[in-house]
Amino acid sequence: MKIDKILQAASVIPVLEIGAVETAVPLVRALAAGGLQVIEATLRTAVAVDAVKAMKDEQPDLIIGMGTILSEEDIEKSLSCQPDFLVTPGATKSLLQSLKKCGIPSLPGVASASEAMTAAEEGFMAQKFFPAESAGGTTYLKALKGPLPKITFCPTGGISAEKAPEYLALSNVACVGGSWIATKDMIEEQKWALIEANAHRAAGMLLTN
Ligand code: 3PG
Repeated sequence: MKIDKILQAASVIPVLEIGAVETAVPLVRALAAGGLQVIEATLRTAVAVDAVKAMKDEQPDLIIGMGTILSEEDIEKSLSCQPDFLVTPGATKSLLQSLKKCGIPSLPGVASASEAMTAAEEGFMAQKFFPAESAGGTTYLKALKGPLPKITFCPTGGISAEKAPEYLALSNVACVGGSWIATKDMIEEQKWALIEANAHRAAGMLLTN
């Protein structure tokens, strides 16, 4: 599946930091019950790869990506759980090359016009705009639309349920990402009903651009 198709399948992608593998199955059940189809687990914890494996076994129809990919080693580390896509917070030249080489649909992170242009030069026309709120938010994304009309963004970083609709109204936004649906604390505290309710609300948010 190409990255554009993956982004079309979601308006909101929950970004997950899973600290204990036992939480992966109830977590993915809550997210799926809420109606979300695309999720991202971050490679920030020791159990991230095993957690993605467990989530894929539990919900084979969900599209599950691996985020916080910083290097070629991280790509290799994530291969054993067969992520459907990869997400990076930023993009060096060598990381862009490694993403191209691995062939997995990827969303490289950018925070400026120059970075967006560098990633586009390498063929990445869909990009993560990160950290969205600190890097200029909707005002910055609106300003990029004129000079860079062919690039679409998945803004992530500091976005809440309240702010998400403002991003989803922009014509160069394909979807938004965020941890607000299932924060690290909510996962640790096993707040499955709350996560399902947050997922349900997020699944109801549509692009209005
Ligand atoms: C991240 O990788 O940390 C994500 O972009 C999530 O950002 P958030 O926690 O601010 O939603």
